[in-house]
Amino acid sequence: MASLDDFSVITRRDEPLAPLTWLRIGGPAQRLIEPRSVDELAAVLRTCHELGEHVRLLGGGSNLLIRDEGVAGVVIRLTDPAFCGVSISGNRVKAGGGALLSHVITESAQAGLAGMETLVGIPGTIAGALKGNAGGRNGEIGEHVASITVMTSSGDKYVRQGDELVFEYRRSNVVELCVVEAEFELTPDSPDEIAERMRKLWVIKKSTQPLSFQSAGCIFKNPRGLSAGALIEQAGLKGVKIGECEVSDRHGNFIVTNPGARSADVLKLIDVMRTKVSEAHGVELELEIQVW
Ligand code: EPU
Repeated sequence: MASLDDFSVITRRDEPLAPLTWLRIGGPAQRLIEPRSVDELAAVLRTCHELGEHVRLLGGGSNLLIRDEGVAGVVIRLTDPAFCGVSISGNRVKAGGGALLSHVITESAQAGLAGMETLVGIPGTIAGALKGNAGGRNGEIGEHVASITVMTSSGDKYVRQGDELVFEYRRSNVVELCVVEAEFELTPDSPDEIAERMRKLWVIKKSTQPLSFQSAGCIFKNPRGLSAGALIEQAGLKGVKIGECEVSDRHGNFIVTNPGARSADVLKLIDVMRTKVSEAHGVELELEIQVW
């Protein structure tokens, strides 16, 4: 019978996850496993499946809150170069699921391929960006996908073509555990013009969002036609603090954490934000971040 001990070389036990997330809080993973190849990833997943182990995939940790008690079971990270490559051929960009979105944006722009630059400033990995259809006012990653290679939690790998994929506001039908690789179809343009568009978007983002603090991006999805940030501000919540966690005074839909912050306090603050917005506006806010 297969055992997780077979993967001890690539496993860390009781590994703190806080340093791997943007909020930098929360407890450890019972097992953190970093496979070195696609075949090894499949072997780990098959073993976990056989053993009934709960498995989660950790991307860039930018849209994620880990509870103080940590995470039971297995957390997988695709950090090996086998999962992080970016290559360009014609108008197509291929990227590993573990590649940083920012890396793909820069490589595409430098190669004179337009499309991804609208995502400038969004943290995280390609896998995470695809699952949650990362984007903003100027575009979403789903618009550019030609195909993706996925792996299920039982270790089966297959390709899904762009036309079978559905990307909606902050969600997609990419339900498989891992995105191993993705191919994007972009549009040729002048690298200088792409860079100029990126610069303008970056300036706007910097002036409206608390980039330099520790935050997980927007906490809630925008309710249809409304801005969660504006609703939170109008409910008088900017600057409200629980423990070392506070509602950003720059943008109401961000929580920033200071040293000594606890996940339990972030969760309490989320509750307060939801309750107050519901009382003030009759709108139920839906979480955008994942809570493990
Ligand atoms: N606003 C306020 N008070 C606030 C925040 C915003 O009045 O505290 C107002 C703004 O003045 C503006 C409107 O609300 O009129 C919309 O604000 P903003 O342009 O900042 O955009 P957003 O809807 O709050 C969305 C995404 C961001 C993305 C930006 C820019 C969501 C939940 N948020 O924010 O995505 O960066 O557009 O494209 O969809 C994220 O998802 O993590 C994220 C940061």
